[in-house]
Amino acid sequence: MWLIFIVLHLGLLVPLSLSCPSACVCLPNGDVTCTGGITEIPHLAANQTFRLKLNNTLIKILHPKSLQPLVFLLRLQISHSPLATIHPEAFYGASQLKSVVLSSTNISDLPPRVFSSLENLEQLYINKSQLMSLPADIFKHLVNLTELDISMNQIANLDARIFQNVTKLTYLNLGKNFLQMIPQMMFHNLRQLKSLILSSNQLRTIEEGSFDHLNNLLLLMLDKNQIQGIPSRLFWHMPSLLILTLSSNQLRYIPRETFYYLPNLTKLTLYKNPLISLPDQLVGHMPRLQEFYLYNTNLITVPWNLFANMTGLKSLHLHYNEKLISLPKDVFSHLPNLEKLSLRKNILQDLHKDQFSSLTKLRSLNIYGNKLRSLSAKIFQNLHSLTHLQLNNNNLNNLPGDIFAHLTVLKSVTLGHNQWNCTCSILDIAAWISDNRNVVTDLHDVLCHEPYHLINKSLVTLTNDSLKCGVTTTGDLHVTMTTEEIQAYSSERTTASFFTDIKNISNVATNTILSTTVPPVHRTLQTLSSTAYTFKKPHTARSMPNVFYDTVVLVNGPDIVHNNRRQGWVYLWTVPTSGAYSSFLMALHVVLIITGVLLIIFSAFAFYHLHKALWKTGMTLRHQTIKTKRLRSFNGKL
Ligand SMILES: *[C@@H]1O[C@H](CO)[C@@H](O)[C@H](O)[C@H]1NC(C)=O
Ligand SMILES: *[C@@H]1O[C@H](CO)[C@@H](O)[C@H](O)[C@H]1NC(C)=O
Ligand SMILES: *[C@@H]1O[C@H](CO)[C@@H](O)[C@H](O)[C@H]1NC(C)=O
Ligand SMILES: *[C@@H]1O[C@H](CO)[C@@H](O)[C@H](O)[C@H]1NC(C)=O
Repeated sequence: MWLIFIVLHLGLLVPLSLSCPSACVCLPNGDVTCTGGITEIPHLAANQTFRLKLNNTLIKILHPKSLQPLVFLLRLQISHSPLATIHPEAFYGASQLKSVVLSSTNISDLPPRVFSSLENLEQLYINKSQLMSLPADIFKHLVNLTELDISMNQIANLDARIFQNVTKLTYLNLGKNFLQMIPQMMFHNLRQLKSLILSSNQLRTIEEGSFDHLNNLLLLMLDKNQIQGIPSRLFWHMPSLLILTLSSNQLRYIPRETFYYLPNLTKLTLYKNPLISLPDQLVGHMPRLQEFYLYNTNLITVPWNLFANMTGLKSLHLHYNEKLISLPKDVFSHLPNLEKLSLRKNILQDLHKDQFSSLTKLRSLNIYGNKLRSLSAKIFQNLHSLTHLQLNNNNLNNLPGDIFAHLTVLKSVTLGHNQWNCTCSILDIAAWISDNRNVVTDLHDVLCHEPYHLINKSLVTLTNDSLKCGVTTTGDLHVTMTTEEIQAYSSERTTASFFTDIKNISNVATNTILSTTVPPVHRTLQTLSSTAYTFKKPHTARSMPNVFYDTVVLVNGPDIVHNNRRQGWVYLWTVPTSGAYSSFLMALHVVLIITGVLLIIFSAFAFYHLHKALWKTGMTLRHQTIKTKRLRSFNGKL
C-alpha cells in the first residue's frame, strides 16, 4: 500500500520536475517563461506548454526540429538573445504555431524556406535584429499571416513579390529600415491591410499607384523619410484612412488635391518639411480631423482656405515657422469648433482685425514670440470663451486700453518682454493692467522699453504726473542721467565739471529756444535753427558706458537731443523725434545749411572779382587822368 503510494507519488514527481527547469517559471495556464544562462530550448512538458517566452538567454542557434516535442505550442518568443543562426528546418514539426516573435537578436539572414511549414502562422515578428535582406519566397506559405513586423532591421531592398501570398495581412510594419524605394506592385495584394508603417526609412519618392489597392487602410505612416515629392493621387483610394503621417520628410511642395477623398481622417501630419508653399486646393472634406500641426516649415504664409475643410478642428498648432510673416485675413474663418490655437514663434508682424472673429469657442490663444507691433482694438472682441492669451515677447509698443474688454472669462494673459513705449498714450492699457494684476501672469516683465529714462520701469507704476501728461510745457530743459552713469563718467572727469557742461548746454538751449506761447511747429523750427552744441569726449572712452552719448534726454523741452561723434567730439542738436513734420524739417535744416555755405563761398568769390575790377578801373582812371593832364598841359603849351 505504502509502496504503491510512493511509486505513484514518484510517478507524478518525475514529469513535474521535467516540466519546469530551474531557469523557467511554468504557470498552470500553459505560460512558460525562461530566462538566464540557457543555450537551448529547455525540455518542457508538452501538455503544459502553450506559450513559451525565452527572454534574456544565451541561445545562439535554433537546431533542426527543436520545437517538435512541444506539440501544443502556439506562441514562441525569443528575445534579447545572441540568436544568429536558424536552421532551415528549425520549425519543422511545429506547424500548429500561430505566433513567432524573434526580437532583439543577432539574426542577419534567414534560410528561404525556414517558415514554409508554418501554414497556421498568424503573427510573425522579426524585429530589432540585423536583417539586411529577405529571400523573395520567405513568406510564400504563410497564407494565414495577419501581422508581420520586420521593423528595426537594416533592410535596404525588398522583392516586389515578397508579400504576394500573404493576402490576409492586416498589419505590416517595415519601419526603421534602410528602404530607399518600394516597388509599385509590392502592396497590390494586401487588400485587407489596415496598418502600413514605413516610417524611418530612406524613401525618396513613392510611385503613383503604389497604394491604390489598399482600400481598407486605416493607418499609413510615411514620416521620417527623405520623400521629396508625392504624386497627387497617391492617397485617393483609401476612403477609410484615419491616420496619415508625412512629417519629417523633404517635401517642398505638395500637389493640389493631395488630401482629397479622405473623409474619415482624424490625424494628418505635415510638420518638419521644408515646405515653401501650399496649393489653394489641398485638403478635402475632413470633418473628423481634430488636431493639426504645421511647424518647422519654410512657409511664408498659408492659403486662405487651407483649413476650410477641417471644420471639426479643435486644436491647431501653426507655430515655429521661422519664415511665416503673415496670415490671410480669413484663414481661421471656417473653424467654429477651434478651442486651442498656437501661433507662437512665427515672425508674424500684423494680424487683421477680423483674424479671430469666428473663433467663438477658442479657449487658448498663443501668439507669443512673434514680431507684432500693434493690435487692433477689435481683434479679440468675439472671443467670448477665451481664458488664456499669450502675447509676450513681441514688439508691441502700445495696446488700445479696451482691447481685452470683451474677454469676460479671461484667466491669464502674458504681456512681458514687449517694446512698450511709455508715453502718455500708454496710460490706458497700463490702467487695465493695473486693474487686472491677477490676470497678467508676467506682470514683472511688463516694462517700458522707451523712452530711455523710463527703461525697465514697470507699466503699472506710470501715472499722469510721472509722464507729465496734460501739463503745458514750460520750455524748461533738463538733462537726465542716472547716478551710475554720472559716476562712470566722472571716473575720468570730475562730476562738477560735467555738470558745468550740462548747465552750459541747458542755458544755451533755453536761451535760444522758444517761449511757451509759440505754436508747436514754429517751436520746432526755432529748435532746429538753434546752434549745434559740442560736447567734449572724455579721455578714456572705454571706461564710459557706451550708452552715455545716446542717452542725453531733454525732458519737457525739445523731444530729444540727437548726437554724433567725430574725432573725439560729440555734436548735439535738437530735433523733435516724431511728428508729421520732423523729416521735412530735418531736410529743410540740411538745405538751409548748404545754402548758407554756398552763399558764403559765392559772395567771397564775387567780392574778389569786384575788388579786382575796381582796382583795374582805378588804374585806368589814373592813366586817363595823367593823359588828360598831359593833354591839357600840351594844349596849354599850344
Ligand atoms: C527581457 O529582458 C530584457 C533585458 O534584460 C528586459 O529589458 C525586458 O524587460 C525583458 N522582457 C520581458 C518581457 O520580460
Ligand atoms: C488558416 O486559418 C483558417 C481559419 O482561421 C483555418 O481554417 C485554416 O486551416 C488555416 N490554415 C490554412 C493553411 O489555411
Ligand atoms: C468612416 O467612419 C465611420 C464611423 O466610424 C464609419 O461608419 C464609416 O464607414 C467610415 N467610412 C469609411 C468610408 O470607411
Ligand atoms: C473642400 O472639400 C470639398 C470636397 O471634398 C472640395 O470640393 C473643396 O474644393 C475643398 N475645399 C478646399 C479649399 O480645398
